[in-house]
Amino acid sequence: MEPRKTKVLVVFYSMYGNTAKLAKAVAEGAQQVENVEVSLRQVEELIPKEIIQANERMRKVKEELRDIPLVTDKDLVEADGIVFGSPTRYGNMAAQMKNFIDKTGALWTQGKLVNKVAGVFTSTSTLHGGQETTLITMMIPLLHHGMIIVGIPYAIEPRLFSTEVGGGSPYGASSISGPNSEREPTKNDLEIAKTLGRRVAEIAKKISQK
Ligand SMILES: Cc1cc2nc3c(=O)[nH]c(=O)nc-3n(C[C@H](O)[C@H](O)[C@H](O)COP(=O)(O)O)c2cc1C
Repeated sequence: MEPRKTKVLVVFYSMYGNTAKLAKAVAEGAQQVENVEVSLRQVEELIPKEIIQANERMRKVKEELRDIPLVTDKDLVEADGIVFGSPTRYGNMAAQMKNFIDKTGALWTQGKLVNKVAGVFTSTSTLHGGQETTLITMMIPLLHHGMIIVGIPYAIEPRLFSTEVGGGSPYGASSISGPNSEREPTKNDLEIAKTLGRRVAEIAKKISQK
């Protein structure tokens, strides 16, 4: 009998589109693994509509992301692997992502996310503006949920040795968007993000088929 498809969920928040680009690369990487089904979802926005409408850049990004559905608890429960992406805010995840995670209390009490495989990714404006602190602190609630966190080993992803300006770390995928958040993820950043997606998918598949 054909084994059931492994489900990977990529869930993100993005204000200026950089984390969204990484999310798509993570999803693409996960999709490269055979017999894996990938869903891309975003979390609820907390910024008032009138503020978004008044900002051309934010309005344009919202428009581009319009067709990506909002994540639900059902998406989380059904997934075997979940990759979470958030821009950095003062060295931490964005409130929008934290708000979403804080609403998973019922799943936590029931242990619904125990043993699901997880990974994280982020985008910052600056080189040393908190990529690692964001990635690591994003992992903390996931550990409370009993998720199995997967990083990006140097042995699997030699692009992590690059000394060019760019993202990517053993803790998760990332990009550096510059002071106006206009510097898109580089080719390396996107490849590293794909590696993260592939890795979460491969490990989730192994665990879910046991
Ligand atoms: C309130 C706020 C706080 C931020 N904090 C940081 C920070 O601590 N370090 C940093 O390098 N960039 C920081 N940024 C910049 C964003 O992390 C950066 O623009 C990121 O690439 C945005 O991702 P997005 O394009 O997916 O929205 C901050 C931006 C805002 C609006």
